Amino acid sequence: MEVFEAVRTVLAVRSYKETPVPSNVIRRIVESGRLTGSSMNGQPWHFIVVQNPETLRQLGRLARSGPYVAQAPLALVVAIERTTYAVSDASRAIQSMILTAWGEGVGSNWVGFMGLTEVKPLLRKFLMGDSRTSGPSRKEAVKHVKPHGHSSCAGLVRPRRQSCRTGRSRSCRLWSDVPHP
Ligand SMILES: Cc1cc2nc3c(=O)[nH]c(=O)nc-3n(C[C@H](O)[C@H](O)[C@H](O)COP(=O)(O)O)c2cc1C
Repeated sequence: MEVFEAVRTVLAVRSYKETPVPSNVIRRIVESGRLTGSSMNGQPWHFIVVQNPETLRQLGRLARSGPYVAQAPLALVVAIERTTYAVSDASRAIQSMILTAWGEGVGSNWVGFMGLTEVKPLLRKFLMGDSRTSGPSRKEAVKHVKPHGHSSCAGLVRPRRQSCRTGRSRSCRLWSDVPHP
């Protein structure tokens, strides 16, 4: 999908099919976040891929503005270091990942911003080992949870600011109806 077309059509997807996202696609999505430019090349982020159904359920419970995470086959948790530009840098990386996912036919959304402190111990419990590669360390804050999945509700033709909320968007069509690369 052409870049402008992805920007023009991308939707906040909040309802997902159970179909797992293939591992090469997950890798591509995360790679697009990793390759994103950051202030002074600081890369003050950590991306945690969550596929364990129980962990996804718990994330859905903790992320109050995104309970639908519980139904997603995949979530990416973005933890950032507590540095000046980290929020800007991570936001840019998140947008890269959302657009890359969309280009791959995978719908996603951004969930949460503050108040995800309880996610941290959850990930520590599930992801042991070096905190820099496996989970957020004490100096890092969990800022965003991004559920991903093949959307059960997605549209390409819609006025720009219409949301694809479950059952509420007039422009929604089934994903299978939507021509997609
Ligand atoms: C910083 C930020 C935080 C967001 N937080 C949430 C959230 O907690 N839950 C949610 O369902 N959507 C969240 N969103 C998604 C927005 O609601 C969505 O991008 C907006 O409604 C536009 O939707 P559309 O692209 O489908 O038109 C967030 C978006 C941003 C940029």
